[in-house]
Amino acid sequence: MLSFLLLGLSTLIGIVLGLGPGSSSSILSKSGYVLPQFDPNPSERLQEVAVNHAGFLYGPSLIGNSSYFPGGALGRQRVGSDIVAFQENAAFINQSIHDESGAVRERILKAGGFSNLSSYELLYKDVWERSNPIGIAPGYFTNYTQDLHFSMERLSVNPFSTHRLRPGDALPFVPDDATVSKISGASLDSLHRSGRLFLASHSYQARYKLQTGRFAAACDAYFYIHPKTNDFLPLAIKTNVGSNLTYTPLDSDTDWLFAKMMFNSNDFLHSQIFHLANSHAVAEIVYLAALRTLSARHPVRAFLDRIMYQSYAIRPVGNQTLFNPGGFFDQTAAVDQTAVLNFVDQFYPTVAGQFRGNYFVESLESRGLLNCRYGPKLKNFPFAEDASLIINSLRRFVATFVTTYYSSPSFLKDDTEIQNWVVEANTEAKVIDFPPAPLSNTRTLIDILTQMAYLTGVNHHLLNSNAPSYITGLLPFHPSAFFKPLPTSKGVEDITPWLADLEHAMSQVTLQLRFQRPQLPAEHGELVDMFSEGAFNNGTYLPSSVKTAARRFRDDMTRIGTRMDTKGFDDDGLSQGMPYVWKVLDPRKIPYFLSV
Ligand SMILES: *[C@@H]1O[C@H](CO)[C@@H](O)[C@H](O)[C@H]1NC(C)=O
Ligand SMILES: *[C@@H]1O[C@H](CO)[C@@H](O)[C@H](O)[C@H]1NC(C)=O
Ligand SMILES: *[C@@H]1O[C@H](CO)[C@@H](O)[C@H](O)[C@H]1NC(C)=O
Ligand SMILES: *[C@@H]1O[C@H](CO)[C@@H](O)[C@H](O)[C@H]1NC(C)=O
Ligand SMILES: *[C@@H]1O[C@H](CO)[C@@H](O)[C@H](O)[C@H]1NC(C)=O
Ligand SMILES: *[C@@H]1O[C@H](CO)[C@@H](O)[C@H](O)[C@H]1NC(C)=O
Ligand SMILES: *[C@@H]1O[C@H](CO)[C@@H](O)[C@H](O)[C@H]1NC(C)=O
Ligand SMILES: [Fe+2]
Repeated sequence: MLSFLLLGLSTLIGIVLGLGPGSSSSILSKSGYVLPQFDPNPSERLQEVAVNHAGFLYGPSLIGNSSYFPGGALGRQRVGSDIVAFQENAAFINQSIHDESGAVRERILKAGGFSNLSSYELLYKDVWERSNPIGIAPGYFTNYTQDLHFSMERLSVNPFSTHRLRPGDALPFVPDDATVSKISGASLDSLHRSGRLFLASHSYQARYKLQTGRFAAACDAYFYIHPKTNDFLPLAIKTNVGSNLTYTPLDSDTDWLFAKMMFNSNDFLHSQIFHLANSHAVAEIVYLAALRTLSARHPVRAFLDRIMYQSYAIRPVGNQTLFNPGGFFDQTAAVDQTAVLNFVDQFYPTVAGQFRGNYFVESLESRGLLNCRYGPKLKNFPFAEDASLIINSLRRFVATFVTTYYSSPSFLKDDTEIQNWVVEANTEAKVIDFPPAPLSNTRTLIDILTQMAYLTGVNHHLLNSNAPSYITGLLPFHPSAFFKPLPTSKGVEDITPWLADLEHAMSQVTLQLRFQRPQLPAEHGELVDMFSEGAFNNGTYLPSSVKTAARRFRDDMTRIGTRMDTKGFDDDGLSQGMPYVWKVLDPRKIPYFLSV
């Protein structure tokens, strides 16, 4: 699987140095990666970088206006080889879905279609053994109607759409105070003033174009930390379409469940397109700046070459098969593909494209979810609990890697390639919110590389990869679309008529399965092997400190994964405070790269 990238790399070096591939790899295999100021062949290196600088250019962004996409002769060559690698990786799931769909369809037909909400379980239970070996979240089908299931999804499956309101913040809608007090035991104002009120706003989706016969709301939802129990719970949902209904837990069970499903439909759209404008668009532009400025012999370039495997396939493949008019997205979503472009245009420049603003801690702190000074701590925060273990370990490896090659602070100052990279990122590449040039502190470089590995190895798979088929996109609680006009008054008795029929449900399920790469664990393509010797460096000499750190990283990831195996329900029927078991960030089961 890796041979593709590394073959390309060694050939490129060979061409640039005017050497056969054999001799170039022997230089690297003996001396290892080297900073430019210590390179024994400085003029050849300058020439190599000049060739790359001329060959990788900034082309127009695909799929909305996010970051530049590789252009130029070498850029196009790289995109082409990434697409070949992508197709090789995608073949297994494509074939599995093809082979397994028939039986699923048949059993649902036999059951007479979806006659009630429970019958959607037929889409998932005891099927897709090859396509989805991980299965679906334990507890989901028995517990999804519970409020805690709904609210805790905000703190696990998509932690990027919710923030804690600051005491001075304007409120987008004001539910009736008697209702709020009855639900929470406190007034809206007191929840707000005490930093216990949270908002997830998808009102911007009201502007998106609906497809014929498909319907969606554009919900704003409040959540709150309960004044007595400190549970994180839903308070109210306003639809922002039709007659602008506001729902609360005091409505009938069915009306309230419907409202939660309308919100989930909006939030699923958010999580999927946010990941595109965040994980993909950001990591790709930082790497493009590196391809133009760093020699393949530079340790930072080697690091990025590894984690950015196959990454430039996603936008062109997505443009051609997922977000094209009538493509996979249009087959499942309520809105049409122009909504994707609108979302990217709005979110990339403001939120998703921020480099430092999306550092793990910064992103959570800026939204009041972590280390909040104006409200109480979240009792449970599964995303932070799971991700922080991985990130701490990533950072430890990166710190060793960086300080091994930059063993003196002056090395950074004298490294013209790395300095050019940072200038390039801030100017030509237009990376948003990148650390400023000059880079004077190895700590900043550690931050950058940790974030890059987090984007490719953690953040992407939190939102995409296994996540939609494990929980985030499961019917009936997370419909991609509704198929009847949404209610203009309360009193709905059965939600089933609004939900997907067999054809639409199969489209939703199989699209989500396409994001999986179930064969990768057997091929060492997972996060646990991100830095594994051999794969990470392919025969290039590595200092022993780096090798030791890589082994430790692997051990850490294995331990984190093994501990995830033991997740289950406690005496209250909860796991990390949630009525479902969430194992999406198992480092043994998520790719180390932007796989899809
Ligand atoms: C490692 O590099 C050599 C060339 O030096 C190449 O022939 C080989 O395919 C690469 N191996 C992998 C696993 O990429
Ligand atoms: C894309 O966004 C950039 C930065 O916001 C802006 O300068 C540029 O004009 C936009 N391009 C298009 C085609 O809208
Ligand atoms: C996916 O599988 C179908 C059915 O086996 C096949 O016709 C198609 O060519 C495959 N597509 C890709 C991209 O592998
Ligand atoms: C739901 O429908 C299935 C058939 O799809 C049926 O077997 C089951 O009894 C129904 N459940 C309820 C609660 O009505
Ligand atoms: C819903 O209410 C908001 C203000 O609360 C208003 O801006 C919007 O126009 C209303 N939408 C509809 C469809 O009535
Ligand atoms: C992107 O998709 C559009 C619409 O499907 C198509 O016209 C265009 O050629 C595609 N561009 C690339 C580079 O694939
Ligand atoms: C959630 O579902 C699981 C499995 O069905 C069950 O054991 C657990 O008690 C449920 N939790 C709650 C809070 O109902
Ligand atoms: Fe992706």
